[in-house]
Amino acid sequence: MKLGLRNYGRIAEAAITRRVPVYAHYGITHRCDLTCKMCGIWRYGNKKEELSVEEIQQVAARMRRLGVVQVSIGGGEPFAYEELELAAKAFVDEGLNLRLLTNAVNVPRERFDRVVDYGVRNFSISLDSLYPARFDYICEQEGSWESAVRNMVYLAQRLRGSGGLLVMNCVVSNLNLEELPDMVRFAKEIGFAVSFLPIELLRTSGEGVRNWEARFIRHRPEMGLQSGPQEDVVGRIDRTYDTLVHMKAEGWPILNSTPYLQASRAYLKDGRFPAEGCDAGALYFSISPNGQFTICHRTSHSYKHFLDPDFEDFFRSKEYEYKRLMEAGACEGCMRACWIDTSSMFRTLQGFFETARLNLQAPKANPVQEREALTWARYDDIDIVPHAHAQ
Ligand SMILES: C[S@@+](CC[C@H](N)C(=O)[O-])C[C@H]1O[C@@H](n2cnc3c(N)ncnc32)[C@H](O)[C@@H]1O
Ligand code: SF4
Ligand code: SF4
Repeated sequence: MKLGLRNYGRIAEAAITRRVPVYAHYGITHRCDLTCKMCGIWRYGNKKEELSVEEIQQVAARMRRLGVVQVSIGGGEPFAYEELELAAKAFVDEGLNLRLLTNAVNVPRERFDRVVDYGVRNFSISLDSLYPARFDYICEQEGSWESAVRNMVYLAQRLRGSGGLLVMNCVVSNLNLEELPDMVRFAKEIGFAVSFLPIELLRTSGEGVRNWEARFIRHRPEMGLQSGPQEDVVGRIDRTYDTLVHMKAEGWPILNSTPYLQASRAYLKDGRFPAEGCDAGALYFSISPNGQFTICHRTSHSYKHFLDPDFEDFFRSKEYEYKRLMEAGACEGCMRACWIDTSSMFRTLQGFFETARLNLQAPKANPVQEREALTWARYDDIDIVPHAHAQ
């Protein structure tokens, strides 16, 4: 990952002050071409609320002025935004290090080519299983696995030697827990690193909307670990996470820090969030499709709009600092790797060196070709939802 002198300066300043927003997430749209079972964002898709390319150029310029180094554009599905290519270019042109988070399933190659031509080098692509039938069941679209994998291999070949970091985003659930070590092996073969995110679900179908984020997740008991055989649920989680921590120490391309993996293990067992404080609104922030600023993905919206002419003064004001401390302090916590690992990177030496090592480490020099990647698909007869009989 090439950062440039300006960005190294910002990272050093953030390490000292913990008050430079080095990371920003921009959900460019809530629209999506898939209807994944655990996700509810696609239900809120509304083209009318989205910013124009000109407004997005202003967002990018403002982010640069605030000190942002790394921006992730997600959604919804970012490629559902028709002019994503020009939007991406706006961030690259401002010298920001851009990552696109995509399902890659229905994205034509020419669109990937265009964003790469505009300078995007970092992509995170979701893949939750090596069983096509299981992944297609999660995404609710037949052929999703094969299509995503073909595009992953295409990008790995296209970006070989470019310094980009390709990441496979994998949501850990009752469906795939035992698959995770093989997902790491597969990712390495195709030139990717892996990021594991424990599944977050509504506990009951009638659970009220506690906050903005709760609108985006769903009640899918069969995907929760607590739906497996309870006498062994702790053993299942421990066996997998022991292996992942071990693989991480051996140098396998697992993007999460070791403290994050341990926190995920605890969360999956009993729903407990990490106890450490949170730097939301200081080291990172989030922008919604309509340009609303929030301190992270899951907050109230009582801040100025990001394109408000006074926003930069507001962001540096005591009023803002007080508001964001109150909000983060009152929060029950979360398991979002991007926030937690950004904090961990600046709070602990282990976090810092683990992140630096993975970002500097060259990906597999010769990622496998498409034909070989597709041989990893598993077609043996399995229960798509393992342990379903125990419910
Ligand atoms: C919301 S999507 C947006 C980007 C893109 N559409 C994609 O799927 O990669 C970002 C990530 O959130 C994950 N996700 C969705 N619902 C989740 C849930 N209930 N718990 C944890 N992660 C979830 C997705 O699998 C994906 O990796
Ligand atoms: S996880 Fe991503 S691809 Fe799936 S429905 Fe949600 S936004 Fe769409
Ligand atoms: S812990 Fe709370 S405030 Fe901090 S990033 Fe997570 S949801 Fe936001």
